[in-house]
Amino acid sequence: MTEIGEPLIQFSGVKKRFGTKIIYDNLDLTIVKGETLTILGGSGVGKSVMLKMLIGLLTPDAGSIVFDGIELTKLGAHAYGDIRRRIGYLFQSAALFDSLNVGDNVAYGLREHQAVKRMTDDEIHHRVGASLELVGLPGVQEMMPSDLSGGMRKRVGLARCIAVQPEVILYDEPSTGLDPINTARINNLVKGIADALHITSVVVTHDMGTAFDVSDRLAMVHRGRILLQGTPDVFKASNDPNIRNFILGIAPPGEDVATLLAQ
Ligand SMILES: Nc1ncnc2c1ncn2[C@@H]1O[C@H](COP(=O)(O)OP(=O)(O)OP(=O)(O)O)[C@@H](O)[C@H]1O
Ligand SMILES: [Mg+2]
Repeated sequence: MTEIGEPLIQFSGVKKRFGTKIIYDNLDLTIVKGETLTILGGSGVGKSVMLKMLIGLLTPDAGSIVFDGIELTKLGAHAYGDIRRRIGYLFQSAALFDSLNVGDNVAYGLREHQAVKRMTDDEIHHRVGASLELVGLPGVQEMMPSDLSGGMRKRVGLARCIAVQPEVILYDEPSTGLDPINTARINNLVKGIADALHITSVVVTHDMGTAFDVSDRLAMVHRGRILLQGTPDVFKASNDPNIRNFILGIAPPGEDVATLLAQ
């Protein structure tokens, strides 16, 4: 486990709505340097929105988001470029550029940031090779995304993420759609990369096995705020029915098939 330090990311009083739909009415959450924090919550509660607000793809309506002492909600587009280099984002869809081979996909972020941090083609070549090795896919640079399995695509997406050496990696449902073996492989990667690179990891998942396996702490989003945060043991011991049902995968009363059919 990595050494846990001071607060790195702080959401305070964050509000976000789309039209009349309130996603967050008061989001308070602290993410500590070096920890692996898992965000839990039902479909559509706003987990991806939280990550997108952190990397500036969405802007909160109110409240503050501080990263390493920098107030993100007040940053201009240019300054955000630097933040995006420091915070890697593994998209829910592991979006790769289908027209680029794996090597160019992984090099993409490096080339984009080349203006900030000069790297020679040789250095990029080495960094791409090392990143693919870290995710267990050495030597696949020439393959095209269409030739990859779902699990491999996720790992290439992860290699692209770590290639720019971020301080934080946001994983949006890294194991969704994968079989149990590839899920375990991704979980091991999340842990292995956190340890090897001493980074802070934020993982969104519906999979409780993943959540308990990879996390130092968990935070559950429910009705626009954080319902509970704490260690896996805190979650396992919780008596809150929303937490218990989520962990056990039980639908709330009135949502069972018989009741729905009777309506
Ligand atoms: N850009 C947007 N414009 C309008 N509505 C949006 C936008 N992005 C997200 N939403 C809505 O906000 C809500 C939360 O979306 P979000 O993607 O964060 O859910 P989630 O918790 O990640 O769900 P899932 O587990 O299914 O990925 C959803 O109702 C979604 O339709
Ligand atoms: Mg999502």
